[in-house]
Amino acid sequence: MKHNWIAILDFGSQYTQLIARRTREQHVYSEILPFNKTAEYLRERKPAGIILSGGPNSVFEEFAPQCDPAIFELGIPVLGICYGMQLTAKTLNGVVKPGTHREYGQTNIKTIPGCKLFDNVPEQLSVWMSHGDQVAELPAGFMPAAESDSCPFAAMRNPESKFYALQFHPEVVHTQHGKDILHNFLFKVCECSGDWKLSSFIEDTIAAIKKQVGDNEVILGLSGGVDSSVVAALIHKAIGKNLHCIFVDNGLLRYGEDVQVKEMFESKLGMDLHVINAKEQFYSALKGEEDPEKKRKIIGREFIEVFVNQARRFKDSKFLAQGTIYPDVIESVNPMGGPSETIKSHHNVGGLPEDLNFELVEPLRELFKDEVRAVGREMGLDHELLDRQPFPGPGMGVRILGEVNAERVNLIQQADMRVQEEMMKLPNYKEIWQNFAVLLPVKSVGVMGDQRTYENVCAIRSVDSIDAMTADWTRIPYETLARMSNRIINEVRGINRVVYDISSKPPATIEWE
Ligand code: XMP
Repeated sequence: MKHNWIAILDFGSQYTQLIARRTREQHVYSEILPFNKTAEYLRERKPAGIILSGGPNSVFEEFAPQCDPAIFELGIPVLGICYGMQLTAKTLNGVVKPGTHREYGQTNIKTIPGCKLFDNVPEQLSVWMSHGDQVAELPAGFMPAAESDSCPFAAMRNPESKFYALQFHPEVVHTQHGKDILHNFLFKVCECSGDWKLSSFIEDTIAAIKKQVGDNEVILGLSGGVDSSVVAALIHKAIGKNLHCIFVDNGLLRYGEDVQVKEMFESKLGMDLHVINAKEQFYSALKGEEDPEKKRKIIGREFIEVFVNQARRFKDSKFLAQGTIYPDVIESVNPMGGPSETIKSHHNVGGLPEDLNFELVEPLRELFKDEVRAVGREMGLDHELLDRQPFPGPGMGVRILGEVNAERVNLIQQADMRVQEEMMKLPNYKEIWQNFAVLLPVKSVGVMGDQRTYENVCAIRSVDSIDAMTADWTRIPYETLARMSNRIINEVRGINRVVYDISSKPPATIEWE
């Protein structure tokens, strides 16, 4: 299928995934592979080009990651970026000079006319550098392609062999014309056709599902989140009623979520949906438990039990569909530890008993999250569903501090619904990573009319973040805070105080448990 693709060998740069994104944005499919994939493997899979990523190591380190030198004998174009450039030079017998200091940040370079990579790119440009070592002497057959004040070979090329290398990072936005430089590599050097489109992805995937599954039945654990919803849409399109979606109502959902899921998947999309009301089972397992980790474990365990019991009802189903996406399956490399590889595995429904013996259907394995959303849009899923904020697997279980029970779930759902309604009125709502209510395990004194009250305290949490690794609290306008607080205290019986959480991550986390 994918002759027209780019292999990206990953030497551990924080930007490796960006390289993949940048090629896919130009409609060229790309895959990230561990740096030590063999030339033999690549020969068989026939990429149109190979990109060697940057990485944190120096080529002088004893266990510096190396690629198979034979990849330079495949006749396939290669682009080395940063560490990838130094490795190219070293592997092909050029000279690399150890750095005395790291050059980090914006640098001006001057391109040398004649290099295809810089076609339609101005002669002077500002680029993003991040390196210690640099190439001091070019390998045989290479010529300089760009220079800077501190770096005589800011880029090099061997047009005959179609080997190119850049000391800077074209994949980051700080490099002017970075997109054009990659475009030139993809189309002028590798001669890619650029016909990788999500619409053809959808057609191909539906055909592949039909082929894999045939007349058999497939079970899918629907969570109401983006990934499992898009998987459901794809598989349903391929096999219709032979897809059975199981939605476990664990009693820890957001307000109205069970109804929304039914409306969307059953009424609107006509899927075979089984909503399993397991609230009581979860509440009784959680009874009296206050420890956050134990609560998480209980919720995970009960989910598996409910799901497995349901799955066993579908005796003819041999297949289990999962919403695994690309970042879950990229084989991550550990450049500091030599060629050891760990594979991050992701199981939306992890820990299933072996005797169930399902074959997996994972149609989103090749896609990044925003590509998954784009597929969902193209398939007609509601944007409310596709643009939903992340919601933790254990749901309200980690937003009710202390014991979880039906009464406290009702309180948090009511408060949270009001937080959502008010926050959604903000013009910048879409830029907010997450906002929600948290029910605290303390009571406080208040006064309502002439009556003294002694009721629950609710916290509002809202954070801005790019990837959930770090987060800052949202500067919510006072008016919005005031409306949320008034509405919760006046309309939700059982809460008489609202506080706003102004902790950043780190040292706090986004969720409270
Ligand atoms: P923390 O609280 O660690 O959360 O700052 C980071 C992000 O992860 C989400 N989160 C979870 N997502 N299962 C999930 O699918 C979980 O158990 C879980 N716990 C936290 C959280 O909502 C935030 O977006």
